[in-house]
Amino acid sequence: MSTTENRAEFGSTLGFILSAAGSAVGLGNIWKFPGKAYACGGGAFLIIYLIIVAVVGTSVMMAEFTIGRKTHRGSVGALRMLNEKFAWIGGLGVLTGFIIVCYYCQVGGWAMYYVAAYITDVQTVWADPMAYFLGMLGANGFPVGALVWGFIFMLLTAFIISHGTAGIEKMSTILMPILFILLIGLMIRACTLPGASEGIKYMLHVDFSTINGTAILTALGQAFFSLSLGMGVMITYASYLSSEDNLVSNTGIVCVLDTLVALFAGFMIIPAVFATGIAPGMGGGFAFATLAGVFMAIPGGQFMGMLFYFLLFFAAVTSSTSILEGTVAFLTEEKGMERKKALVGCCIIMEIVGVLYLLSQVYMNLKGIWISKDGLQFPIFGDFLEYLTDRLLLPLGAFFTTFFVGWIWGPENSIKEATGDGRNKFALAKPYAFVVKYIDPIAIGAIIVAGMVFGMSIS
Ligand code: TRP
Repeated sequence: MSTTENRAEFGSTLGFILSAAGSAVGLGNIWKFPGKAYACGGGAFLIIYLIIVAVVGTSVMMAEFTIGRKTHRGSVGALRMLNEKFAWIGGLGVLTGFIIVCYYCQVGGWAMYYVAAYITDVQTVWADPMAYFLGMLGANGFPVGALVWGFIFMLLTAFIISHGTAGIEKMSTILMPILFILLIGLMIRACTLPGASEGIKYMLHVDFSTINGTAILTALGQAFFSLSLGMGVMITYASYLSSEDNLVSNTGIVCVLDTLVALFAGFMIIPAVFATGIAPGMGGGFAFATLAGVFMAIPGGQFMGMLFYFLLFFAAVTSSTSILEGTVAFLTEEKGMERKKALVGCCIIMEIVGVLYLLSQVYMNLKGIWISKDGLQFPIFGDFLEYLTDRLLLPLGAFFTTFFVGWIWGPENSIKEATGDGRNKFALAKPYAFVVKYIDPIAIGAIIVAGMVFGMSIS
């Protein structure tokens, strides 16, 4: 395909890497990953996760990148262009993304809530971090604050989408490196807290008896979520690349960066869990309640905490905009909707689903409206949305994408695109062809089926 059509391109390779990494690095790395690593047995989970990223994650990302740059289209249009019968794979991704962004905006709002809390009310947060976190979610009455911040976050996401993302791309260049450095600093501090060594041991101790089907499925879903795969976001991003860009190195860099951030977060939060004894359940309390123990223990902890939640918020915005952009692009380009109408419609549904997600965390449990299985810690509706997307829809999206590349479009076409018609080196081209064609569909398919057969419980 020529790139001469009237379509924007990324100004530089760095701009693309930052945008793709900005989409990938988000709440998934810091809010989700440590909790999953903790619940699924520490070291053994880490190994499974790393293998999945190295084999499945990189190949699915490469598959999406090559589809996008080959066609210079958003996900639905891209698949349609390569083979009309498969445009629905893009459609499935749009649906998945929309479900994710509904709850993503709520959690992004919690990060904003904590920025404000660290500025105005840090002593209350530190007096009892867990109670404060549950209070935010509605343990002491209707969670007005979280509701308002979630709403603001959602509006902000929509606002940025309607005004173009050039501004946040520029800010990413400064803020993302700061987040990276701050995470390393906090990780070192957390690991040197008294009692933290148990946590480090937990993360390094490999005991495969903790690994069952659910843990593998969790790792797979987490990898797709964290790398922004399985819903066509990376197809859309790569569609803005020019043929000069090296897809091979870009894939490597984005996967490594994203995984490093997740590992830093894991080695920051899990040692802190052991040092502070603040261990919330699977619900996302780690990044909020547990970390208070680290901030309390460092000089300037109030400022550091504020900075951390601000950067978390920023990382969340670069992800939430990437997801919502997919939905809005679909409604305008494919369904012919006006951009404004599409955005307003999305906002209304996002708010309704988001509020249900928020209220189901704690408040509805207290009111007995939604009895969860373990008291406050396992919100049924919230869990349901996350399972539906992470364990079913994202893996399905990735399954169909690799099936499409492996068997319909053909790995050789994908490799041709990856190397820019032979201009760039792709040392792992042969293994890649084998993995997209056989390993990915079989492994992902088997894990999805196993997940459905063996249920969705966390244990
Ligand atoms: N990867 C982001 C995170 O870790 C979330 C995200 C952004 C995402 N875009 C996506 C997840 C596309 C799946 C698909 O927070």
